Amino acid sequence: MKVLLIGATGNLGLRLVSALLTHNHSVVAYVRSSTKLESLLPASVYGQLTVIQGNAIDSVSIKTVILDSNCDAIVNTAGVAGVAPWAKSDLPAIFRAVMDGVRGAGEERGEPLRAWFLGGQGVLFYPGSEVMMSNYIPIYLEHRQNLRLLKALPPNTIDWSMLCPNTMVPESSSITVPTQSSHKVLIASAGTPPEWKDSWVKYIPLIGRPLVCAMNAGSGRYETTLEQNAEFIAGDLESVESRWSGVAVGVIDGAK
Ligand SMILES: NC(=O)c1ccc[n+]([C@@H]2O[C@H](COP(=O)([O-])OP(=O)(O)OC[C@H]3O[C@@H](n4cnc5c(N)ncnc54)[C@H](OP(=O)(O)O)[C@@H]3O)[C@@H](O)[C@H]2O)c1
Ligand SMILES: *[C@@H]1O[C@H](CO)[C@@H](O)[C@H](O)[C@H]1NC(C)=O
Repeated sequence: MKVLLIGATGNLGLRLVSALLTHNHSVVAYVRSSTKLESLLPASVYGQLTVIQGNAIDSVSIKTVILDSNCDAIVNTAGVAGVAPWAKSDLPAIFRAVMDGVRGAGEERGEPLRAWFLGGQGVLFYPGSEVMMSNYIPIYLEHRQNLRLLKALPPNTIDWSMLCPNTMVPESSSITVPTQSSHKVLIASAGTPPEWKDSWVKYIPLIGRPLVCAMNAGSGRYETTLEQNAEFIAGDLESVESRWSGVAVGVIDGAK
């Protein structure tokens, strides 16, 4: 596929450059500074990209780039959610603009685009319920309004998925493009975290579920690598009909 990657200079964005190329996608990188992107990648990798400068809060520019470059899919890693419950970051404005641009391009073309967005583990449901984990651990709350916007889209406007990892750490700081991926695969599930460890603790009134969330999400079990998540998205974009259409996706390292 031809993939528009918004936020290519970021931690996850750089690994997506690599993973998308390894999966033989064409990559159009949308960044605020091409000089910055060039400084972060080996020349041989940078040379394989189409690079377009623009701001992620500019929905018109995003729509134009998608249509002019004939992109089939987009991945947005631009903008970072604030941690504290009261934090206000650029992410909601970026998210809305990207969504509007992608939707507009799909409507003009008459076919919705495939799109991966990033959320956080807190927007996943506590297993067996329809209560978001961030109700129990109120951090990174800005992802909630973003997911709400996606879920409110009329059908056939964007073929979206939202990847919702816990902390992502780098495996390596060097960005290379191997012919085969060597990262351990993630186990994924729709709507809730996979392989949740349940506990009797949940029955303790009021603090039970928050404690079980902390035991699971705070224990490092759900920590994954940036490379694994990039690989997950790049692999999914090979399929015409994704298993993950219209859902928030929880992930865990298969080895944990
Ligand atoms: N890292 C984690 O552990 C983790 C865990 C769960 C979820 N997430 C989510 O995953 C996403 C990616 O995380 P990350 O660690 O890769 O973040 P990051 O390294 O901080 O990258 C953020 C990217 O956003 C770009 N950006 C910011 N504002 C922009 C704008 N107005 N226009 C264009 N680009 C803009 C930055 O570009 P510049 O280089 O131009 O500044 C940078 O490339 C975030 O949404 C984050 O909330 C991260
Ligand atoms: C990408 O293309 C190369 C060369 O044609 C091929 O060897 C490789 O298996 C392809 N990778 C994937 C993930 O399809």
